[in-house]
Amino acid sequence: MCGIFGYCNYMVEKSRKDIIDTLTEGLSKLEYRGYDSTGICVDGDADGTSLIIKNPGKVSQLKEKINSTLNFEQYNPEYINHVGIAHTRWATHGEPSVANAHPQRSDLNGEFVVVHNGIITNYRELKTLLLNKGFKFESDTDTECIAKLFKLFYDTNLENGIELDFNALTKEVLSELDGAYGLLCRSSHYPGEVICTRKGSPLLIGVKSEKNLKVDFVDVEFVDDESADDQVTLNETKINNPHKPVVDEEKVYFAPISNNSTNLRYSQSRAFLSEDGIPIPIEFFISSDASSVIKHTKKVLFLEDNDVAHIYDGELHIHRFKPRQDGDKITRPIQTLELELAQIMKGDYNHFMQKEIFEQPESTLNTMRGRLDFQNKSVKLGGLTNWLPTIKRARRLLMIACGTSYHSCLAVRQMFEELSEIPVSIELASDFLDRKAPVFRDDVCIFVSQSGETADSMQALKFCLERGALTIGIVNTVGSSISRSTHCGVHINAGPEIGVASTKAYTSQYIALAMLALSLSDDKLSSLKKRQDIISNLQRIPGQIKEILQLEPQIKAICKRLQGEQSLLLLGRGYQYACALEGALKIKEISYMHSEGILAGELKHGVLALVDENLPIIALGTRDSLFPKVVSSIEQVIARKGKPIVICNKDDEYWLSKKKVNSEIELIEVPGTSDCLQGLLNIIPLQLMSYWLAVNQGFDVDFPRNLAKSVTVE
Ligand code: F6R
Repeated sequence: MCGIFGYCNYMVEKSRKDIIDTLTEGLSKLEYRGYDSTGICVDGDADGTSLIIKNPGKVSQLKEKINSTLNFEQYNPEYINHVGIAHTRWATHGEPSVANAHPQRSDLNGEFVVVHNGIITNYRELKTLLLNKGFKFESDTDTECIAKLFKLFYDTNLENGIELDFNALTKEVLSELDGAYGLLCRSSHYPGEVICTRKGSPLLIGVKSEKNLKVDFVDVEFVDDESADDQVTLNETKINNPHKPVVDEEKVYFAPISNNSTNLRYSQSRAFLSEDGIPIPIEFFISSDASSVIKHTKKVLFLEDNDVAHIYDGELHIHRFKPRQDGDKITRPIQTLELELAQIMKGDYNHFMQKEIFEQPESTLNTMRGRLDFQNKSVKLGGLTNWLPTIKRARRLLMIACGTSYHSCLAVRQMFEELSEIPVSIELASDFLDRKAPVFRDDVCIFVSQSGETADSMQALKFCLERGALTIGIVNTVGSSISRSTHCGVHINAGPEIGVASTKAYTSQYIALAMLALSLSDDKLSSLKKRQDIISNLQRIPGQIKEILQLEPQIKAICKRLQGEQSLLLLGRGYQYACALEGALKIKEISYMHSEGILAGELKHGVLALVDENLPIIALGTRDSLFPKVVSSIEQVIARKGKPIVICNKDDEYWLSKKKVNSEIELIEVPGTSDCLQGLLNIIPLQLMSYWLAVNQGFDVDFPRNLAKSVTVE
């Protein structure tokens, strides 16, 4: 799991410093994908050479190394056509070190240089083959095999008198690779050209020109197209092109293009030309994620698995690595990103995580916007409208996710069961795959993911698709693999989440799932009252979150007191069990304090042995039908001299009177709501607590050790 970034300028004059600044700035936006080591590759000083600079640690450290290695004042050449590539790494094969950092090269001259996100599963076999051919390895990475394979195939073809173009050479290399990749390759044999290809890892290309591009999509050149090489690559389209993507409120669907469509489009023999047929100055920004591209351009196209994009002379050709199959889309639309740069900046906050916690009044509202009609107490999820009857007939609902996203599924399970009366199973994607759990055609499988790229969830999705189940994506990242591969879905619209610890995505997932449960029961008279109560209370949630955020000073004080503690228990029951698990996950991943979410009913079956006057315990003691049972668990803690911190409803008489007689109990008072929505409010103090526990210890909250935002490896 890593971030890759590439920059290619054509007929746009850029100095080496400009190019390197663009690369490092792109990388800094991708650091959330991993930050063990970083590196760049640009043209070397002598013709046909590559200059690679890499370093363990973050982008800021790479910049220092670049500035101490290169003296731009003395030597800063200008380039009119150049390719630079860059990488920020999260180690999978090989410890974080200079040697293992990317870019990786084919040989000491750097004839072929690659950056890679993903895992090559057959790298051991490839390495043995390459060693036998005399290649010398510099790193422990799987990626180095790819660079060396490029050279092997290039040299072998040349020995046989064959000069392959970069695209054809790439296909030979890809045919040897098993596993997942988002990959960029540049080569001194193909100056000014870059290859961008993906399988299982995201990759997009931003296009920028001072000229008006007037481009709606790029044609795909299929291997079985006889005239692929002379084929038109990019088309200007007439206004009102009927084949533009149909932008639905929820998801972007691509309208099918009929065979006679060609006469509706202009053709050109080169990719990006001005109206008078002259090549135009153009820049391409290739990245794992739109956040690093948005500063430069809003025009992007998303590559699909097995696409090989070849950029040269200002042209962008998209080839397919695999033979054409039924259903393959024949164009890649150029889309306009709605994301604003301001949305992905920290603003006045010290950390992205803090900003994202405080954004929740707005992000939760955005999740509901245009979908919940509070007056008529109804829900409309545009991305599901056509599928709803089928979903309602499901034999069972399977919710599949990882980490925090899994907790959001757990938080709404009871609500789904109560409202829809359909059996619901909640699955951790990795465990679901390990078990190869049975899935049937009449199952509906719901995939919940912030990034939409989590490898375990993606693999589980493939597994369910193969078994003919209907699949729904509940995803934050528009255009992500999960959102594109599911039959239908709901974008949670929480906005970009950069902090590695998921916060606002959790509350938005919770609400999106609650709206799905409401949709599934919209024709059930028996649940009418409950539905109306939930909808009314959903309307109040953003304001209530705002109110809870005011408790920050109290929570900061609690965190000061907890400093130095080694361990923490969180007790919850029923609706609040998910909240206990999610709170514990937040605390452990950010503050590195051992914390455990416990089902309160299980306390007496073992965990109680841990309880004494020293162990900090947070109890979720808000009101619902299980309140008496929760109280009894907390009483068991108090009886063992425990001093619980209780998250309870505001002005709750029971807890206020309890505190009067035992001043060591601390109360965090939150507003009340429907029992099934209370978890949306109870999680807020726990998010704040994890944040302050970490900040008080000086930890890098946005980049917790050993973790990355988007886990694109299984
Ligand atoms: C925890 C966290 C992770 C993710 C998990 C799934 O704060 O962020 O547990 O929730 O890796 O990621 P997504 O939701 O992107 O599939």
